[in-house]
Amino acid sequence: MTGSLQPSLAIAPAAQGPRHVAIIMDGNGRWATQRGLPRVMGHRAGVQAVRNIVRAIGDFRIPYATLYSFSSENWKRPASEVSDLMGLLKAYITEDLEELHRNGVEIRIIGSRQGLASDIVALVEKAETRTRGNPNLKLTIAFNYGGQSEIVEAARRIAMDAAAGRLDPRDLSPAVFSRYLQTDGLPDPDLVIRTSGEQRLSNFLLWQTAYSELVFVDKLWPDFAKADLGQAIAEYGRRTRKFGAVTGEGT
Ligand code: IPE
Ligand code: IPE
Ligand code: MG
Repeated sequence: MTGSLQPSLAIAPAAQGPRHVAIIMDGNGRWATQRGLPRVMGHRAGVQAVRNIVRAIGDFRIPYATLYSFSSENWKRPASEVSDLMGLLKAYITEDLEELHRNGVEIRIIGSRQGLASDIVALVEKAETRTRGNPNLKLTIAFNYGGQSEIVEAARRIAMDAAAGRLDPRDLSPAVFSRYLQTDGLPDPDLVIRTSGEQRLSNFLLWQTAYSELVFVDKLWPDFAKADLGQAIAEYGRRTRKFGAVTGEGT
C-alpha cells in the first residue's frame, strides 16, 4: 500500500470495516474559545461537522452510526448553553430531515425524553416516523442520554416484567438484557471515536462498548473531517479483535 491513497480508498473493504461507528463529538467549546468566540459558535460549527461526517459515513458505506450529542450530565452547563444545544438539535432536524430521508437514512433518538420541551419531543418523533424503515444508514442520535440511566431503566423494566410474570428471571441473559436497552436491534459499536483528546466514555453506551475498539483523536469536533474519519477507520483495520479468545497469530 502506498501512502498516497485517498482516505476513502485506504480503508479496508466494507465487509471487513466497522459496521457500526459511534462518535463522542467533543471539543466544540474549546474550538470556539481558541478563536475568541462564544461557545455557541463552536456548537454551530459542530453541527456543520455532523452534516459532513454523516455524508462521509454514507460514502464509506457504514450501515450504522451513533452520535453522542447531549449527555444526561450536560444539564450541569449554564442554562443559556443548554438552550443553545436544544435549539441546534431542533435546527438540525428541521433543516436536514428531508435530505436525510432522501438519502435513505433512518433516524433513532436514544436518551430520556423527560425534561425535553414538548416541541423537541414532537420533532424527534416526526424524524423517527418519517424515516422509519429507510435502508442505507441507521443513524442514532444520543440526546439527553446516559449509559447508567439506560441500564437502570432496563433493569427496572425487567423487574416489572418479572413481577408481572411476563419474564422468568432464570431466562435473563446478556442477549435478553440487551433487548431492554434503547439500542435494541442495533449491533454493538465496532469502533468508538472520541475527538478533542479526552480519553474517557463520559457515560456513553456503557453496556454496548464492552468490546468496541476505541480511537481517540486530538482534533476538536468542528475540525473533524472525512479524512480524519478515514484515518480512524484505517486504525480500526489495524487492530486485532480478540473478544477474549486466542487468535491465530498466537497472541
Ligand atoms: C461537545 O463539545 C458538545 C457537547 C458536549 C454538547 P463541548 O461543549 O464539550 O466542548 P469542550 O469539551 O468544552 O471543548
Ligand atoms: C461528552 O462530552 C458528551 C457529548 C459529547 C455529548 P462532555 O464534554 O460532556 O464530557 P466530559 O464532561 O468532558 O467528560
Ligand atoms: Mg467536552
